[in-house]
Amino acid sequence: MVEPDAARRKRVDVRRSAPSPGPASSNGGAEQAAALQVRNLEVVYSDVILVLRGISVDVGDGESVALLGANGAGKTTLLRAISGLLPVHRGEITKGEVRLGDRKITGLDAAKIVRLGLAQVMEGRRTFAELTVEENLRAGAFARRDNDAVEGAYERVFALFPQLEERRSSTAGYLSGGEQQMLAIGRALMAAPRLLVLDEPSLGLAPALVDQIAGTIAEINRQGTSVLLVEQNAAMALSIASRGYVLEAGRIVLDGPAETLRSDRDVQEFYLGIGDGAGRSFRNVKSYKRRKGWSG
Ligand SMILES: Nc1ncnc2c1ncn2[C@@H]1O[C@H](COP(=O)(O)OP(=O)(O)O)[C@@H](O)[C@H]1O
Ligand SMILES: [Mg+2]
Repeated sequence: MVEPDAARRKRVDVRRSAPSPGPASSNGGAEQAAALQVRNLEVVYSDVILVLRGISVDVGDGESVALLGANGAGKTTLLRAISGLLPVHRGEITKGEVRLGDRKITGLDAAKIVRLGLAQVMEGRRTFAELTVEENLRAGAFARRDNDAVEGAYERVFALFPQLEERRSSTAGYLSGGEQQMLAIGRALMAAPRLLVLDEPSLGLAPALVDQIAGTIAEINRQGTSVLLVEQNAAMALSIASRGYVLEAGRIVLDGPAETLRSDRDVQEFYLGIGDGAGRSFRNVKSYKRRKGWSG
């Protein structure tokens, strides 16, 4: 038996009873455009491989949102769809829409989307290995013509990452993994984005560095940049974000405030590694429980 998606999706957050504390209340009740609105997004690779099956995600202005999910769930695909990078991977948005502020950006090219205020830190901390730290940062400001603003952006990045300032003339290829991640984030910030999206910034980093990167992302958000953070490291992501979504096999299966997700038994079991089911698939166990009539 196939249940309709709405019934399958478990909502731990009834928004009416638990509104997320956002800037919406600080502008006299006027409706403020969200930083990002993704609606019913469907994505197909190579014309046939359906990977995202109708996804809706919001990031409020100034908000920090986590997108959790196991390897292969479709997290990177969602970010590619948002930032205009799907065509590079033979992917296509076949349904739905993406809005950045009050602009529809569905199908725009990646450089245009950066100019409109969305910057992405890609998976695997890509930097230009032969260029210096400073040149990498300069490349991140490609869309900007105002030199004073670019100088201000350097200052912001060096204040967040003093290590990068010390190494500004070093070749990026010689930086440590942690420094390269800092550089990748710094480069994205050079575009002065309204929304920063990050794809698994903690991947492969030692715990102390994960903490440092997490602290910096939280600081970037405090400075007013909205954040969409994609992570397999649920503990890290939920320590920063105020809200989160769980993605499984191309569908959002759970969403809610970070503290609700942290205390949700399924999230603890499948994403925080607490309890005996750690490592098993959330979706498979849910459908098993459903068949047995256990699910609430
Ligand atoms: N260019 C591509 N062509 C075909 N399938 C792809 C492509 N990129 C990713 N996929 C598939 O889409 C699914 C989701 O991948 P991805 O978005 O990378 O997940 P995640 O980032 O959550 O690990 C996987 O099954 C993956 O194999
Ligand atoms: Mg990925």
